[in-house]
Amino acid sequence: MITSPKVETKNLNLYYTENQVLHDVNITIAEKKVTALIGPSGCGKSTLLRCFNRLNELIVGTRIEGEILLDGKNIYQNGMDVVDIRRRVGLIFQKPNPFPKSIYDNIAFGLKIGGMKNKSRISEIAEKSLIDTGLWEEVKDRLHTSALDLSGGQQQRLCIARALAIEPEVILMDEPTSALDPAATFKIEELVTQLKNSYTIIIVTHNMQQAGRVSDFTGFLYLGKLIEFGNTNILFTRPKEKLTENYISGRFG
Ligand SMILES: Nc1ncnc2c1ncn2[C@@H]1O[C@H](COP(=O)(O)OP(=O)(O)OP(=O)(O)O)[C@@H](O)[C@H]1O
Ligand SMILES: [Mg+2]
Repeated sequence: MITSPKVETKNLNLYYTENQVLHDVNITIAEKKVTALIGPSGCGKSTLLRCFNRLNELIVGTRIEGEILLDGKNIYQNGMDVVDIRRRVGLIFQKPNPFPKSIYDNIAFGLKIGGMKNKSRISEIAEKSLIDTGLWEEVKDRLHTSALDLSGGQQQRLCIARALAIEPEVILMDEPTSALDPAATFKIEELVTQLKNSYTIIIVTHNMQQAGRVSDFTGFLYLGKLIEFGNTNILFTRPKEKLTENYISGRFG
């Protein structure tokens, strides 16, 4: 079904000290498609997302078993460069978290850390990232004012622009619109649809309509297990598992 996998997990188990929260997860994420992860609170969606760029290992007591392949290579293998993995796989959080810096510096920061010195190149990339996230017209006259003065939706798009600037291959989004109003949510959804032409996107959402609108594939997690995975239209209209059907029809969660 998925012809070009970008990311794959193989028998992934994750423990927070003694507590196992992911159980034998095998999921394949298609390149340049949007994959939605759905499931009730506490089922392990954020945990799974954090595994994809090794952010989980910043949490003391975390242990994983199994493999996560990025372009066929296990990112947990000895000798893999974590900084490089996190550059290739960016994460957008639930609450917009711009740096307390100017709009421009939010984007320039990552580039400078990465060693870029050429100011005009940095400006070009900043402009392109802001254009790609639909923010440019809204902020071009205030690039040097604080990012914290932007609206919530604009801040979230700035965080996406900041992620795009360092040219990731995969973008992880953990409930990116749950703190936003419907208009700002619509803009992010439009953006996701547009970004999949160039990036592989994995989005966690509690909103089933949103999963239906933006994703090509959907995985349903329950108590740390991947219960069902498939084409979004099929999963929402003809789920194979009773648990999936109960969840998507709002019987629990
Ligand atoms: N840092 C942590 N230390 C210990 N246990 C954790 C930690 N983070 C999450 N857990 C536990 O792991 C399980 C999965 O949590 P996770 O945050 O991945 O769920 P989720 O599906 O993202 O939930 P939500 O929809 O509420 O965001 C839960 O039982 C949670 O209590
Ligand atoms: Mg979560």
